[in-house]
Amino acid sequence: MSTSVQWVHATSADELNAAVLRDVSAVINDAVLVRGRALVAFPGGNTPLPILAALAEAPLPWGQVTIMPSDDRLVPMSSPLSNVAMLTRLFGPLGARVISFGEDGADYHRSGREADAMLQELPWPLDLVWLGMGGDGHTASIFVGPDLETALEPAAGVRAVGVRPDPLPPEAPVNRVTLTAPAIAAARRTILLISGAQKQQLLERALTEGAASAFPIGRVLAHTPRAVVYSLSG
Ligand code: 6PG
Repeated sequence: MSTSVQWVHATSADELNAAVLRDVSAVINDAVLVRGRALVAFPGGNTPLPILAALAEAPLPWGQVTIMPSDDRLVPMSSPLSNVAMLTRLFGPLGARVISFGEDGADYHRSGREADAMLQELPWPLDLVWLGMGGDGHTASIFVGPDLETALEPAAGVRAVGVRPDPLPPEAPVNRVTLTAPAIAAARRTILLISGAQKQQLLERALTEGAASAFPIGRVLAHTPRAVVYSLSG
């Protein structure tokens, strides 16, 4: 299977941010209208921050929205590395339910099992998975390393796993919990936000390589039926 990718090319950060904001807002409104609730996964990293801030200003039914990170670093909520802390600061005061994947990276496999047990209680699939991509081709916290295959092809039904990237990414050299590739693929809508020509070129190559790609993003999308890629390549 190959992914059906819809590319949205933006010529400015403002245009990119407005397009993603519009899409994510529509997914949330539609999910609440149809099912009375929305279940979404938002990325960490820097690129999405202005959009997440604008989203928190949007008149959306936050009381019916459950938010989780697409992945999180297993660090205390007080750490600047914590994705759930960022999401809680933005969306908690609005009445959204924000789900934590845990703060203890000592036994990251256990943390992954605990996060997965929590996700098993939720009405699946996700309405939206919003991903970023690193310059090494990782997405969420699906990185090259000893846990790559577990994140890509977990036991049936597993929605989240604990991972330890190898090499550890310098910007956040810690153990993590990530949504699995099947959890991402099952989402009603998957979007990917990238910025810069290097990432666009890497993604185009990874999409061509598909399941044989050495880049995690290529393998994740190879099992994802549809994805919308928002790209600012300038
Ligand atoms: C994280 C993210 C990660 C991020 C990419 C891109 O926890 O860091 O989930 O997958 O999306 O690293 O980050 P930038 O958008 O900052 O380049």
